[in-house]
Amino acid sequence: MATSTSIHGMWSSRFAFILAASGSAVGLGNIWRFPYTAGEYGGGAFVLVYLLCVAVIGIPIMMAEVMLGRRGRQSPINTMRALAQAQQAPVIWQLVGWLGILSGFLILSFYSVVAGWTLAYVLRAGTGAFSSIDAAGSAQVFSALIADPWQLFLWHSVFMIMVGLVVARGVTSGLEQAVRFLMPALFVLLILMVAYAAQTGAFMQGLDYLFRPDFLEFQGRAGEAILSAMGQAFFSLSLGMGAIMMYGSYLSSQASITQNIVIIAGMDTLVALLAGMAIFPIVLANGLAPGSGPGLIFETLPIAFGQMPGGQIFAVLFFVLLLFAAWTSAISLLEPLTAWLVENRGWQRPVAALMGTALIWLLGIACLLSLNLWSEIKLFGKGFFDLFDYATSNILLPVGGVLIAIFAGWVLNRQVAAEELTGGEHPGYHLWRFLIRYVSPVGVTIVFLNAIGLI
Ligand code: PHE
Repeated sequence: MATSTSIHGMWSSRFAFILAASGSAVGLGNIWRFPYTAGEYGGGAFVLVYLLCVAVIGIPIMMAEVMLGRRGRQSPINTMRALAQAQQAPVIWQLVGWLGILSGFLILSFYSVVAGWTLAYVLRAGTGAFSSIDAAGSAQVFSALIADPWQLFLWHSVFMIMVGLVVARGVTSGLEQAVRFLMPALFVLLILMVAYAAQTGAFMQGLDYLFRPDFLEFQGRAGEAILSAMGQAFFSLSLGMGAIMMYGSYLSSQASITQNIVIIAGMDTLVALLAGMAIFPIVLANGLAPGSGPGLIFETLPIAFGQMPGGQIFAVLFFVLLLFAAWTSAISLLEPLTAWLVENRGWQRPVAALMGTALIWLLGIACLLSLNLWSEIKLFGKGFFDLFDYATSNILLPVGGVLIAIFAGWVLNRQVAAEELTGGEHPGYHLWRFLIRYVSPVGVTIVFLNAIGLI
């Protein structure tokens, strides 16, 4: 039943897949979300748990997603249905695909708002708004932006149009081009930022904060901290919602999944750590609070840009690259829904992309209003923005990921998996199978139960 191509197109090479999948993985999750969540839970111990989750839960599930996608060659909903049917398993497994559509929807609605902040910051950086700015001034710039619904609305809309346009053009022409040079450029700039941070005088302190695990940091909320570290691993690797499954469906049957995924996950992790190494020294050198929440990098980095020689140019470049990193991730959030609309509704791709964009754009408006005019409206004690951010990473993605793990480990035919992953039953395959069958499902369940205080 394995078909060799997808109706939506194929990556031009294995390298294109690596670029696109790392384009999906590397994004606001690494540079905006990782530092602020690590900061919320005190640094080192959180980072250690995060790394562990990437290694033993994230990488195996990422391999499973690519494998299932490549086997099914359709949108996650149809892929899961087709694969379930082929195994004589209940077609209810397609719910995994639906859950993924829901997660992608919710994530992109707040993601686009944050990407909008990035756009706004490109403009501020370009007009020299950060020159010699101090901590108080920088915090002021950020809170003024957040308080202004019209500005947020404008930038969120611009970003959603950017995303819709690329997805409308299609995978190879739209997507591949976008990531080719942007990813390497972002990487170089991050290294320069770390080099700058190395001169702030607080570099060692920053490294210590990030890499010395001290479980006392969890201060009686270990369950929640561990859940957040795990959620961050899912979010950062783009797992549990079908984005990577979709990208796997465009991968040639010849490419090695294992090798490619280790490269992609490695790059994603490196970028997150580099972001932490650039940000925390600046945070500590300026006496700022690491746990100040989603505004962390937007309040911190301008101070550094404001002090360094050529800071204005660096600042523009940095926020432009962050914008591109967000763009390539956002594209992958919209792709599964678009592909499904093409497959099941028979719509033209541009129409499908437009519909998806419009719906998410609307939901995004609720997110951005929750930061100002609607700040009183709470669901489960959180505004829409915070709720979507929290619930997708910490609940929906891990649930989706575990279902994928169970399907790949327990339902899918053993030979099929071995053939797709390692071209036979090599020792590496046994390790994967152990991790996917036992470690991921049991691990995630324990983290959930622990977080709600049951164990
Ligand atoms: N991994 C992306 C980031 O780190 C976000 C993302 C999550 C993208 C889930 C796709 C799916 O920014």
